[in-house]
Amino acid sequence: MSPEPIDRPDLGGPFPEHIAVIMDGNGRWARERGMLRIQGHTAGVDSVRQITTACARMGVGSLTLYAFSAENWARPPREVKYLMRLLRVFMRQERKTLMKNGVRLRCIGRLDDLPPASLKALRATEELTAGNDGMVLRLALSYGSRSEIADGIQRMAQDAKDGTLDPASIDEESLRAYLYDPETPDPDLVIRTADELRLSNFLLWQASYAEIYVTDVCWPDFREPQLLDALRAYAGRRRKYGALLGEDQDDTSTSDRDTA
Ligand code: IPE
Ligand code: IPE
Ligand code: MG
Repeated sequence: MSPEPIDRPDLGGPFPEHIAVIMDGNGRWARERGMLRIQGHTAGVDSVRQITTACARMGVGSLTLYAFSAENWARPPREVKYLMRLLRVFMRQERKTLMKNGVRLRCIGRLDDLPPASLKALRATEELTAGNDGMVLRLALSYGSRSEIADGIQRMAQDAKDGTLDPASIDEESLRAYLYDPETPDPDLVIRTADELRLSNFLLWQASYAEIYVTDVCWPDFREPQLLDALRAYAGRRRKYGALLGEDQDDTSTSDRDTA
């Protein structure tokens, strides 16, 4: 099946190649409506579907969704079980939509921690979509940035011990190769919903120069109009990477005499 045509909105500025989202606020969304927290997670799945499809159609290169953190295992067993079941059902139900939109599924995290049935459904969807050439949808599952870095350093140390890695050659790029998914570029934009101002152990290495956008909207209410708000905000950002831009770079008001 061929993917839907790309329909990128013109927001008057740059468009992010890789968007990463900390999907937060499912529980609050449900509580505000007198519902159970798990009902918030079910509603959140509709946002996952809509945002994935919208991003794929807009020609986003990669979309990383923080779906379950390494720390989320500390939640009540009932909630964890429900989330794992949702993951399994989502993997089966969404295959058709992922194929229609040419999306490739990948996962990052300590995936061996997942229940076998969820992992099996996930691997099957990864395999089915591996040949697609559209957007990469990366789900971060049982993911923690510190454990990603620690796991990578452990493998590096082993390679150094085995003589296949020269410690003197280690630099930022070679360290990247030991992270979970080195082929995916760094996120340009990190969106966090539900108004929390923290990264919660998400892509600490990769998001070093990402633009951060926080909204008070809870994840189940984050749909295409809210995505467009985030993209509009990104289009207006000036990314400097520590350097200077435009007229500041060519500051003729400062003479050599002033700086001598
Ligand atoms: C995000 O919503 C989903 C997961 C972390 C799995 P929360 O469940 O964290 O919702 P709040 O933050 O309690 O409202
Ligand atoms: C971050 O949300 C993890 C996910 C969105 C999967 P949390 O709700 O777990 O984060 P904290 O506990 O508020 O930092
Ligand atoms: Mg939360």
